[in-house]
Amino acid sequence: MGAVLDAWTNEAGAAKAQQVFAEHWEAEPDGVWASPGRVNLIGEHVDYNGGLCMPIALPHRTFAAMRRRDDDVVRLVTDVAGSSPWVGRLGDIVPGSSLGWVAYAAGPAWALAESGRPVAGFDAAICSCVPLGAGLSSSAALECAVGLGLDDLNGHGLAATEEGRRTLAELCVRAENDVALAPTGGLDQAASLRSQAGSALLLDCRDQSISHVWFDLAVAGLVLLVVDTRAPHALGDGQYAARRNACERAAAQLGVSLLRELTPEASLEAVASPEDQRRVKHVVSEIARVQEFAAAVATGRFYAAGELMYASHESLRDDYEVSCRELDLVVEVARAGGAIGARMTGGGFGGSAIVLAREDEAQALADAILAAFAAEGLTTPSLLFATAAAGGARIA
Ligand code: GLA
Repeated sequence: MGAVLDAWTNEAGAAKAQQVFAEHWEAEPDGVWASPGRVNLIGEHVDYNGGLCMPIALPHRTFAAMRRRDDDVVRLVTDVAGSSPWVGRLGDIVPGSSLGWVAYAAGPAWALAESGRPVAGFDAAICSCVPLGAGLSSSAALECAVGLGLDDLNGHGLAATEEGRRTLAELCVRAENDVALAPTGGLDQAASLRSQAGSALLLDCRDQSISHVWFDLAVAGLVLLVVDTRAPHALGDGQYAARRNACERAAAQLGVSLLRELTPEASLEAVASPEDQRRVKHVVSEIARVQEFAAAVATGRFYAAGELMYASHESLRDDYEVSCRELDLVVEVARAGGAIGARMTGGGFGGSAIVLAREDEAQALADAILAAFAAEGLTTPSLLFATAAAGGARIA
């Protein structure tokens, strides 16, 4: 079924990161920390509106081998082809410093210090099996892996408790918003740090409270296929920020602080532009879908859950307008092939789609999707299977 991207084991990931560390920094790291990418099952573009979303952590993780230093020097290297090692100082990692990938890798050091949790300089080597630019939160996996390492190496102990993980996730969001200047909403970091194996994470973005919803597809004879469309995906091109601004503008016109406060019946007349009204319609209907989806999954009603996935996709395509041809094609082929549900996942404008299917139909669906992409002359997608994995941790 095309090339399926398998996740690395703890042993393989740790060995790769330790090897890159030894090659560049000529020493042994103090430890290795790993944190996962995610797929969001439902609840898209609602996190920054105080809504509900329901991601799972992927088995695919980013591995950071790290060593604490006695000075304020920071040295970073990744295994990404074409990226060069970075050497600087803690004081270089500040908002507005235009650091590229380094902002994601080192931003948590700034956010921890800003929150009154000082960190020493450090050396790090980073390797990842989370596909880059696929809308599967490789950025959050990177921030969270390094964040876990810094938390541990500097004795802050945040990762030891659920409350602490919530704080660490919030600090990683701060790093992404303020140092990397990506105005994202927090779904990804919560999924990476607060997920439990075998469960989806029902996240309430109004107060960051969570509950774990059992999500063991294998027991139900189902699989979740992730299709990385390879369509160019960039949240930094202004579209993401434009959607977020539209929501804030509409909330102000409606007299609420967050769109979460609206019920599905609320009148949207006060919203000046028809386009903004459609944005609000998506957000409000999507939050209601997450509630229904969580209830359906919790009671094993996967067909009902699948219909909500299709409805979510249509809303993102028509009202929020963040889909693209590749994502729509996956969903069209999945529906025509009898999949239980399918939708784009993540920010959109490219990236990945997910397909919920019976195990015995997954092969045929994957083949049909690849054939449809070939027929339209589109880049061949990459495939992976998602199971609900655990949040980040020290692994060596
Ligand atoms: C990206 C952002 C998240 C979230 C999703 C859309 O993944 O990083 O915060 O807004 O898009 O749901």
